[in-house]
Amino acid sequence: MRTPKNILVTGGAGFIGSNFIRYILKKSEFDGTIVNVDKLTYAGNPLNLVDIEEEYGNKRYFFEKIDICDYEKIKETFKRYSIDTVTHFAAESHVDRSIFGPRDFVDTNITGTFNLLEAARECWVGREDVLFHHVSTDEVYGSLGEKGYFYEKTAYDPHSPYAASKASSDHLVKAYYHTYGIPITISNCSNNYGPYQFPEKVIPLMIINMMEEKPLPVYGDGKNIRDWLFVEDHCNAVWLILKKGKSGETYNIGGDNEWQNIRLVELLCERMDVIKNKKKGYYQKHITFVKDRPGHDRRYAINCDKIKSELKWKPMVGFKDGIDTTIYWYTNNNKWIEDIKSGIYRKWIELNYGKREVSLK
Ligand code: NAD
Ligand code: TYD
Repeated sequence: MRTPKNILVTGGAGFIGSNFIRYILKKSEFDGTIVNVDKLTYAGNPLNLVDIEEEYGNKRYFFEKIDICDYEKIKETFKRYSIDTVTHFAAESHVDRSIFGPRDFVDTNITGTFNLLEAARECWVGREDVLFHHVSTDEVYGSLGEKGYFYEKTAYDPHSPYAASKASSDHLVKAYYHTYGIPITISNCSNNYGPYQFPEKVIPLMIINMMEEKPLPVYGDGKNIRDWLFVEDHCNAVWLILKKGKSGETYNIGGDNEWQNIRLVELLCERMDVIKNKKKGYYQKHITFVKDRPGHDRRYAINCDKIKSELKWKPMVGFKDGIDTTIYWYTNNNKWIEDIKSGIYRKWIELNYGKREVSLK
């Protein structure tokens, strides 16, 4: 069992990274230091960690605004904070954006990961008490038909530029283990949801559109399937891997919780009807089917028996409870939403989605 002391969290101002920092500082037995390295792109929001900054800032929590593509600064950070554990979340993470502009995905997800690995190679010579954990996605495995699951041994078959860049970074991480003996682990997780998720992803986008009485845009026929996991369950899985994961191994993480997009949106509408005291069916009327995403993967479903049996992990949050928690969080955090909407996010949405075809259900 490892005891991480000085953890470098990359992308800690984003959705999962900020939840992870909060999780390990507040809900785990971790008593070391966290250094959050984040470039603060459109998706990195310092507001995600105001409470952490207040309670732990410059004591056990340190923030460094650094681009992971800047090798010298990354290496300097490794040395200055005596980093013994990397938890690498930083990425360009949205499939739709990767279709419109893949360059940032190649830069951050591939070159950025390469830089971190190089810093580990230089700073961790001869050390076995260290670990480089790479956070990845089930999208590297491609798309499933009606049956079957992704296993850790499933051959990679990425379809979007996002998935291809993540697949590439996974391969680099594995290569550094085999070639240079850097202790590494990788996790490939299904779709996360929960507080602090940037509202371009489907669940917060639908919740906020309902709050604003706007159309709820479902891509294509709405029958694409995703497996959903509450973000805190993902954080717990990553924490277990940092402590007990075996070097060189990959762990799949998922919720055993497959939903067709249209059913998911209907569920969100039903819960919102109740929470907002509306008549049954009020929000469902806002569902609109829109032009499909190019190359839209049909189904993701993940087998996570390995992490369950080897690390004794299991998801703890039921889907309906997780969805209610998420809806309450967004409806109670208007300032967070307004802050995002006044920035680049809105301009980007208008630029890319302003003209798309919308057909009423
Ligand atoms: P996010 O987009 O919310 O956050 C990404 C963070 O990385 C942001 O804070 C951003 O500022 C930072 N970042 C981007 N480029 C950077 C750079 N060049 N240098 C430093 N920081 C940079 O993403 P997320 O949803 O929290 O995902 C985190 C990780 O988890 C990603 O690696 C993603 O591939 C993986 N993942 C996400 C999901 C999901 O459902 N969201 C599922 C499985 C895996
Ligand atoms: P998303 O949250 O973008 O995650 P990912 O593409 O990584 O799975 O999308 C989840 C699913 O929801 C995906 O099948 C696309 C679909 N979707 C919509 O139907 N409408 C939307 O507005 C968005 C953003 C996604």
